[in-house]
Amino acid sequence: MTTTQPTPTAADTGASASAAFKAAHQADGGADPARVAAVVGAVLDGVRGALREHKASYAEYSAAKAWLIEVGESGEWPLLLDVFFEHVIEEIAAEERRCTKGTILGPFYLPDQTRLSSPATLPMRADEPGERMVLAGQVRSLDSRPLAGAEVDVWQADAAGFYSGFGGPEGNLRGVVLADADGRFEITTVKPAPYQIPTDGPTGRLLAAAGWHAWRPAHLHLIVRGPGHRDIVSQLFFAGGDFLDSDVASATKPELILTPAAGPDGTLRAEYDFVLEPA
Ligand code: DHB
Ligand code: FE
Repeated sequence: MTTTQPTPTAADTGASASAAFKAAHQADGGADPARVAAVVGAVLDGVRGALREHKASYAEYSAAKAWLIEVGESGEWPLLLDVFFEHVIEEIAAEERRCTKGTILGPFYLPDQTRLSSPATLPMRADEPGERMVLAGQVRSLDSRPLAGAEVDVWQADAAGFYSGFGGPEGNLRGVVLADADGRFEITTVKPAPYQIPTDGPTGRLLAAAGWHAWRPAHLHLIVRGPGHRDIVSQLFFAGGDFLDSDVASATKPELILTPAAGPDGTLRAEYDFVLEPA
C-alpha cells in the first residue's frame, strides 16, 4: 500500500460540504405525494425488514440513533449520502443517456472557479506535491462534430487528500478549462493520490465499525459542458491504482480508467475524449 498521507478531518469537510450543498440547492416542496409515498414507503419497508431479519436490539437502536444525530450535527450528510447512495441515482440517470459514461459528482464540487484557456495548468502551489500529468482530449457531439465553446471543469484532492475549500487552500487544483475551436483541451495538473474519506467523523467511524476501509481510488473529477449539450459529470481513475475494485463510494467504472504514459518530454500524459448528447 502506497497511501500514507494524513487524512482530512471531519471538521475540515463535513460542515463546509453541507454549506456548499445548501448554497447550490433549495429544499424542494413540490414533490408528488404518490411518489413520496412509493419511494419513502419502500425505503422504510427495507429498513424495517433489515431490523427484523437481524433482530436488532434496543442497544443497537440507541447506538444508531446517537450516530444519526452525530451525522447531522457534524454536517456529514452530504459525504454519507454521496458515498453510499449517489452511485445508484447516477446509474439510474445514466440509463437514458447516450453520451460518454459519467459517474457521481461527490460532495466537493464548487462552482465559479478560475477560468483558463487550453492548454492550461490548474492553479497549484509552487511546491505542489505529486507527479505532473497532462490530461488531453476532445469534446465532440454524438454525430462526431468537435464542440467549439466546450469547457472542462476539473477538481481534485491534493497529495495529502484535501480538496480546496474543504481543508485545502482556496482554488488549489480547481479550474474551468475552455477547449479550443476544435473542442480540444489539454490540462496540466498533478497525478492525484488515493483519497480517504475522513476517518474521525461518523461516516468514517461507521466504516471502521463494520471493518470496511474508507478509501477511494485516486481520481480526477470533471464536469464537461458544451453549448446546446447536456453536461457530463465524471471522474477519471488510474490503471493499476489501489482501491479500483473496492471504492468506498462504488463510483468506478471500467470506461473511466486512464492509462497515462510518458510523453515526448517525459511528462505523464493521458488521453480521454468526451461525446456529449444534445440538451
Ligand atoms: C466523497 C469524497 C469524494 O472525493 C468523492 O469523489 C465522493 C465522495 C465523500 O467523502 O463522500
Ligand atoms: Fe473525490
